[in-house]
Amino acid sequence: MADTTSYKDLGLVNTKDMFRKAMAGGYAIPAYNFNNMEQLQGIILGCVESRSPVILQVSGSARKYANPTMLRYMAAGAVQMTRAEGTDIPIALHLDHGDSFELAKSCIDSGFSSVMLDGSHHPFDQNAELTKQVVDYAHERDVTVEGELGVLAGVEDEVSHAVSDYTKPEEVEEFVAGTGVDSLAISIGTSHGAYKFKVKPGGKVPPLRFDILEEVARRVPGFPIVLHGASAVIPKYIEMINSFGGKMEDAVGIPEEQLRQAAGSAVCKINIDSDGRLAMTAVIRKIFAENPAEFDPRKYLGPAREELIKMVKLKNETVLGSAGRG
Ligand code: G3H
Ligand code: 13P
Ligand code: ZN
Repeated sequence: MADTTSYKDLGLVNTKDMFRKAMAGGYAIPAYNFNNMEQLQGIILGCVESRSPVILQVSGSARKYANPTMLRYMAAGAVQMTRAEGTDIPIALHLDHGDSFELAKSCIDSGFSSVMLDGSHHPFDQNAELTKQVVDYAHERDVTVEGELGVLAGVEDEVSHAVSDYTKPEEVEEFVAGTGVDSLAISIGTSHGAYKFKVKPGGKVPPLRFDILEEVARRVPGFPIVLHGASAVIPKYIEMINSFGGKMEDAVGIPEEQLRQAAGSAVCKINIDSDGRLAMTAVIRKIFAENPAEFDPRKYLGPAREELIKMVKLKNETVLGSAGRG
């Protein structure tokens, strides 16, 4: 294969049609992160079984971990696997949190159908300039681009969150029009990882700032919004991890009810990484605790993959609303 590969040759699609349909249908496309074969199989099979479109999402460090060349063929293999299963669900390969033009270009040149340029830590003008540079390169190749405004952060206590971290709706129109991005990640109170909030005993997780989301949607009607840091940190898996030797007592995520509400709004893409990691870890911990003599990776990675399939199906069906849309 030549050094430069178009995603179209791999059977992948960009996110344009996915988002158009999600917006019209009032659901969100799941974007699941992966960095190894079992995760990729689990995500794909969960989406095949629930007939959901899917965005396969890879961070820069995950791409390095898997190896960029290997990754391209893994994505191509995932497409072929769905065809062999008798389905042709739309599959996008997306760079998650790209931090430079060079990385975005390298991904586009090696078969990614969508890239994120995350310039959210830069001042507005620098973020816009960098994002536009990526958009110009990507759009010439029919690749879609996600930008970000506002910084995701942890919540310091039960109810407060530094206001300056949230997306400023008044900046959104200029950013979207000036850069030409196809979707925009915003900050409304989610954060990355398994410890999203510090909840005091008996306290509640603070609600997402749906008022900001609504104001953004009012300013850019019909424009696809993205929610990062959207794992629910499923309590069942945290309990399993903790009861089989793990130590994740304070882990807490976004209540599913709020994710459902987001999926029914202008949010067209919901990012989930931690929940997949937790599902697999929970099963592996259980197997190691109950079968300390086991040393065949298939005997623990296989069941972990099965659990991921179940989790993905359930999320698509009951949270994202993407099941049956592929
Ligand atoms: O938002 C970040 C994703 O969860 C990817 O994490 O950089 O550890 O691959 P990673
Ligand atoms: P979680 O850590 O909540 O799964 O978020 C993942 C994410 O936003 C990837 O970009
Ligand atoms: Zn993210």
